Amino acid sequence: MDNKAKVYLGAAVLMLLVFGIGMLGPAKMQPVLWMSYTGFLALASLLLVVAIPIVAKATRHPLAMKALVLQRQLGICVFLFALVHVLITMQFGLGWNIAFLLDPQATFLLVGAIAFLILFAMAATSNDFSVKTLGKNWKRLQMLVYVAILLLLAHFINAGLVFAKNPIVVGVVLLFCVAGAYFRFKPKAKPPVSAKQEPMEPSKETIKQ
Ligand code: HEM
Repeated sequence: MDNKAKVYLGAAVLMLLVFGIGMLGPAKMQPVLWMSYTGFLALASLLLVVAIPIVAKATRHPLAMKALVLQRQLGICVFLFALVHVLITMQFGLGWNIAFLLDPQATFLLVGAIAFLILFAMAATSNDFSVKTLGKNWKRLQMLVYVAILLLLAHFINAGLVFAKNPIVVGVVLLFCVAGAYFRFKPKAKPPVSAKQEPMEPSKETIKQ
């Protein structure tokens, strides 16, 4: 089995595990647990996948370099986790009533839906054909992932019934995002001033003049 197939198999096993763990709770709580677990799995995997190039560049660790090669497949798995979360939430939480998304009392749902559309656009254009056709716009589209993360943090903190109620989990997620943003957007170090100056020893040409 090649590495790409292993990524999808791993994602399927992880999803089954999440459902299995949800089933360990009281029967009445299972839908809430499934909604929470699938939502958190989607958010956590998104943050990890976005961090891959940052970690690979900083550490050159073999595992990070391997993950970098598989980033496209890993990104599609993130979208599939988000899709399962949305389907479970629609089924058990919202009863397929789309009107809930426009409820002014629950703007976190609309925020989650916008983030989901961004993830969908990114997954749909995760192929060589789109990279070629969209040109520079492909890179711009990929940058929307940072908007999606901001929206999802708001969604997580406002919607969450399990993980979001744990201040340690929320703290770790926020710290991870702040550290990631710092390393991703920190200004590049300027070359040392001395490198731009004339060499200390005059060159032969300078002496001739
Ligand atoms: C149409 C789009 C979406 C809808 C309607 C929706 C709905 C919900 C609802 C009702 C909850 C509360 C349920 C609970 O915590 O048990 C929730 C929680 C959550 N959702 Fe979403 N969601 C959407 C998209 C997303 C996406 C795209 C992600 C991540 C990629 C996500 C991540 C989360 C997380 C992390 C939680 C909190 C889990 C917890 O702390 O318990 N959601 N969502």
